[in-house]
Amino acid sequence: MAVHDILHSLFSLDHVTFVLGVSSCILGMLLVVVCKYTVSRENSDHTGKAAVYSSAQCKNADCVRCSAKESLNAAIQERMKSTLEFSARNSTIKLSDRMIKSFKHYFAMTNSADRIDNSNQNVRASNLQNPSIFYMQNLSSDYCFEELTEYSEYDKVLTILKSSFEEVREEFDGLWSDFVDEIDADGWQENSLSDGGGKWFTFHLINQGRRQTLNMNRCPATSHMIKKVETLAVNNCIFGFVTFSVLMPGTHITSHCGATNTRIRCHLGLHIPEDCTLTVNGQDLHWTEGKCLLFDDSFQHEARHSGLSSSSYPRSVLMIDLWHPELSREERDILQNVFHSDLLNL
Ligand SMILES: *[C@@H]1O[C@H](CO)[C@@H](O)[C@H](O)[C@H]1NC(C)=O
Ligand SMILES: *[C@@H]1O[C@H](CO)[C@@H](O)[C@H](O)[C@H]1NC(C)=O
Repeated sequence: MAVHDILHSLFSLDHVTFVLGVSSCILGMLLVVVCKYTVSRENSDHTGKAAVYSSAQCKNADCVRCSAKESLNAAIQERMKSTLEFSARNSTIKLSDRMIKSFKHYFAMTNSADRIDNSNQNVRASNLQNPSIFYMQNLSSDYCFEELTEYSEYDKVLTILKSSFEEVREEFDGLWSDFVDEIDADGWQENSLSDGGGKWFTFHLINQGRRQTLNMNRCPATSHMIKKVETLAVNNCIFGFVTFSVLMPGTHITSHCGATNTRIRCHLGLHIPEDCTLTVNGQDLHWTEGKCLLFDDSFQHEARHSGLSSSSYPRSVLMIDLWHPELSREERDILQNVFHSDLLNL
């Protein structure tokens, strides 16, 4: 039986311990779901207006950071404990030392009842790196990457992304013009921006690990490409997004840290006007059309489109989350199961 299947059965809903742990969290989970999905496609009224997140907490695509986070933490801790217990008595799942340490650190950070003293542990590579949900220890932490071609799996995936650029952009153009021409706003969402100003629109193909089937059906070539890169993409896991992301001129997404350092965020540049900057860990980076920009979004980062609406055009990228290249297949399976998207289904 593959590690993946064992973990899956471990967390299946007839697993008694898990059900007990989870039932206390169902209310919290509902909050997450409501928070994230109240604004669904049904609300779209074909007037060309994207659904707008109403919750003040849902400022970013990573809604798991919202007020229901405590209940989500409880469910995640339950899964970590089950995994630790299972691996202690059954050698089919062998947890790496860094995984065990990271789980323990997670308990310490999120559970004041058994808080341990972290003060002497140098758990962050930099104080500008501060993942809001899960920090995996002992992963090398570079905040940006040129190509990652030394990893053959990355090399393959980046080649597929770049060679699909033309058809992905063509599909994006169709979706975007349907939206701006008020023909079809389905699937488009406007993310609220805390204080930076401007407008930021997203169209999810995969949202917190869940496939958005209706959206995917509208861009078959892009969906086919996603299928080809899914061995490296973060799938079925709350950390995984595949999203068209559009910044209008004059938009500033203010500085923040993403959910985890276990993923590398990849942006395939689709339409890149001048005066657009992604600042990661204090360094200014720039997108290029047809190329991938890779960065660790657990570092502080902000995005700016400083062009004028009169003379510029929107900055558009396809964002896709990939596993950190140093994680083993087994570690990815464990993370996928602990942070599985079914946390949002309960
Ligand atoms: C370990 O787990 C696997 C998969 O659940 C199971 O088939 C096997 O019997 C278990 N071994 C022990 C020693 O419990
Ligand atoms: C940390 O990573 C290094 C290099 O990959 C490895 O040799 C070491 O055993 C790891 N330590 C832990 C605690 O996982």
